Amino acid sequence: ESGQRARLVEAHRAAAEFFAENLRSPEGMIGRGFLSERGFEAADAERFGVGFAPREWEALVRHLRGRGFADADLITAGLAKEGRRGPMDRFRGRLMWPIRDLSGDVVGFGARKLYEDDDGPKYLNTPETPIFHKSNVLYGADLAKKEIARSRQAVVVEGYTDVMACHLSGVPTAVATCGTSFGDEHIKILRRLLMDQDEFRGEVIFTFDGDAAGQKAALRAFEGEQKFVTQTFVAVQPDGLDPCDLRVRHGDAAVRDLVASRTPLFEFVVRSKIGEHDLNTTEGRLAALDAAAPIVARIKDRALRQMYAVNLDRWLGIMDERFVLRRVRDL
Ligand code: GTP
Ligand code: MN
Ligand code: MN
Ligand code: MN
Ligand code: MN
Repeated sequence: ESGQRARLVEAHRAAAEFFAENLRSPEGMIGRGFLSERGFEAADAERFGVGFAPREWEALVRHLRGRGFADADLITAGLAKEGRRGPMDRFRGRLMWPIRDLSGDVVGFGARKLYEDDDGPKYLNTPETPIFHKSNVLYGADLAKKEIARSRQAVVVEGYTDVMACHLSGVPTAVATCGTSFGDEHIKILRRLLMDQDEFRGEVIFTFDGDAAGQKAALRAFEGEQKFVTQTFVAVQPDGLDPCDLRVRHGDAAVRDLVASRTPLFEFVVRSKIGEHDLNTTEGRLAALDAAAPIVARIKDRALRQMYAVNLDRWLGIMDERFVLRRVRDL
């Protein structure tokens, strides 16, 4: 339906304004407290448009009705849902991050629970709507896109607070997925930003809190295209701190250092595989080789494959590159 997108975007813009205003109100104190515990000041919240959804049933619905928005549009936008007594707010008692598309239109929200005894997940996102497709959007991309293209680098973090922490620490290339894992569509967005005369040129750096889910996401990205793979890096904090917590505990420089300490994704993947074995025994080293060789064998580029076989030999302490190479090639 023509004009629908404009109406839904307009409703989101008005909702973001409403939430931002509520964050500044007395009731928004709990939201300001959350932000301050995570090292964010009022000006930081302003900059990212963070807001607060009151813990009422229809505060937003009432407000937007008053502004002339139709209930049907609020439902379609995912801002309201059908309750027993008509439309009610989808987000209640939550901290609200407006999610913008590349052109800067607010198309959805990420919302964090603030009251311990409320129901629902810790983070709640806008559902799929005509203007919001979570597999197709990167939080922060509107703010980061210029810097990503200029510096030929994108940093992928896990959450909204991590994007804020990075940008405030001097890593203005940070983006995050919105309540979903990193997938093909996200790769396409970054590829577009990192295209240089039909050539993909740049680095994509993933920072994960080092847990299993983070590693899985890194591996999935690695399943993609070779060119992308060789320019993909991982930056993991040994003690599992995410950029937001890292900044709170150790300051801005620690966040910049984390990004600077990146490891090629390939090395990260191979070394985590190797780490599952005891390299002090011959059997352990061979088992590690058998686990890692198939990964190296998947590299299509011959020179790169050989280079990694040499690295593998070094990491395993086998001291026989040709033996390792043969193992990789015989697969
Ligand atoms: P805080 O307690 O807010 O600091 O969260 P955290 O740092 O422990 O966040 P976590 O690493 O668990 O989550 C990072 C990101 O994952 C969030 O920004 C969300 O996008 C997403 N996420 C986490 N939990 C949920 C959930 O319950 N539902 C959904 N949809 N997404 C989640
Ligand atoms: Mn995690
Ligand atoms: Mn967590
Ligand atoms: Mn986290
Ligand atoms: Mn956190």
